[in-house]
Amino acid sequence: MEKINITPLAQKLEYYGQGQLLSFYAGLEKSKQEQLLEDINKINFDLIKSLSSEHLESLEEKSIVQKRDPIDALDVGELSQKKRTEFEDIGNYALSQGKVAAFLVAGGQGTRLGHELPKGTLDIGLPSGKSLYELQAQRLKAVSKKAGKDVPWYIMLNPVHAHQSIAFFKEHGYFGVPSDSVHFILQNMMPAVDKNGKIILADKHKISLSPDGNGGCFQALIQGGSLAEMKQNGVEYFFFYGVDNALIKMMDPLFIGYTIASGQQIGCKVVEKMNPEEKVGLLMLENGKPKVIEYSDMPGDLLFEKNARNRLKFSNGNIMMHLFKVDFIEQFGKERLPYHRAHKAIAYIDDKGCVIKPDSPNGYKFEQFVFDVFPRAGGVAALAVKREEEFAPVKNRTGVDSMVSAREMVMNLYKQTGDDILI
Ligand code: UD1
Repeated sequence: MEKINITPLAQKLEYYGQGQLLSFYAGLEKSKQEQLLEDINKINFDLIKSLSSEHLESLEEKSIVQKRDPIDALDVGELSQKKRTEFEDIGNYALSQGKVAAFLVAGGQGTRLGHELPKGTLDIGLPSGKSLYELQAQRLKAVSKKAGKDVPWYIMLNPVHAHQSIAFFKEHGYFGVPSDSVHFILQNMMPAVDKNGKIILADKHKISLSPDGNGGCFQALIQGGSLAEMKQNGVEYFFFYGVDNALIKMMDPLFIGYTIASGQQIGCKVVEKMNPEEKVGLLMLENGKPKVIEYSDMPGDLLFEKNARNRLKFSNGNIMMHLFKVDFIEQFGKERLPYHRAHKAIAYIDDKGCVIKPDSPNGYKFEQFVFDVFPRAGGVAALAVKREEEFAPVKNRTGVDSMVSAREMVMNLYKQTGDDILI
């Protein structure tokens, strides 16, 4: 049997201080050796090195003072009927011309929900028993019908769990959406490191890998050729949204029209924060540029700061509904977005090759965030919408932002409107 010469690779790993990746190599059967080498060859070691050393300098980074100001958002509640119709007409026209695609990011792992399958397959307990994927499909079909054109639906999945989502779509006949309008794309994975920057082995032949964050979507769109395909098919904008909002308003013509009319490359829907500690990102200006700062990264005093009207100064809560201009992403999507480090409990194997599942954080995962592309645009078209109509997040198993609270919100809106599309 042909033996692979791993000496050059071993030398490279030693150079990067990652020799531990081959600790068990010699004792592995050939197929597992190959799998390990394949994973190692995909790693950008320079990137991991720089991210790990950034980690050591993180305290210094955080001490840089940023100038943060609120951003003005157009409040839908304050729009005149005339303006509303004007924006809706622009949006509906763009949809009827096939200029807008839908882009769902569904690659996150639903660990917090305790749901074994991808989040989109979750039935939140509505009378119809529909899954989150099906609710979105139903709304998309209505948009396509009105537009007289099938809206292309791009769906980003992570390579490990993609097969489960794809099988679910097939099993349900794509929920009646023409299958050739549905495009699955895969995001990249990033290795996890321990506190010393050493890449973690999840098993003797397996690197600990996790999805590279929803900001990995631009790479995924570009490398798989989807962005080029959109352009070729005359798509000029895509509506980006997350999988876990049971009140997602798909392809809202008002939002599309407002963004187009504003001449901005990016649109961002927000809701007014319920309280200072609500766990949503905040849209604002940082050093004059648009930016979303995650709840966990906001300095405490800013979270509570009030304006002259005694309202929260920073109150534009990000609900993960963005509109991106394809040309803008083509120009900036290739540039590397920053990686955010998450301190997590990561399963690893010890020196003896036994799998250990720690209870407390022992390492770091790296993720990119979609909104980190915002500062590269001159501004964003921010639209403040009504929470009770558009934002029912399903993040936790119970309590706040759970299936239970989301179901209640959906049913409340259904009772008010009688709109079957909601349930
Ligand atoms: C996200 C927003 C936050 C906002 C909140 C509203 C980001 C980074 N944060 O927080 O500002 O207030 O929604 O609900 O956008 N995903 C992938 N691949 C990944 C990771 C995530 O596709 O590698 C997808 C998930 O499937 C989900 C979405 O991105 O659809 C958001 O996931 P997550 O990163 O967990 O952000 P949240 O904490 O929900």
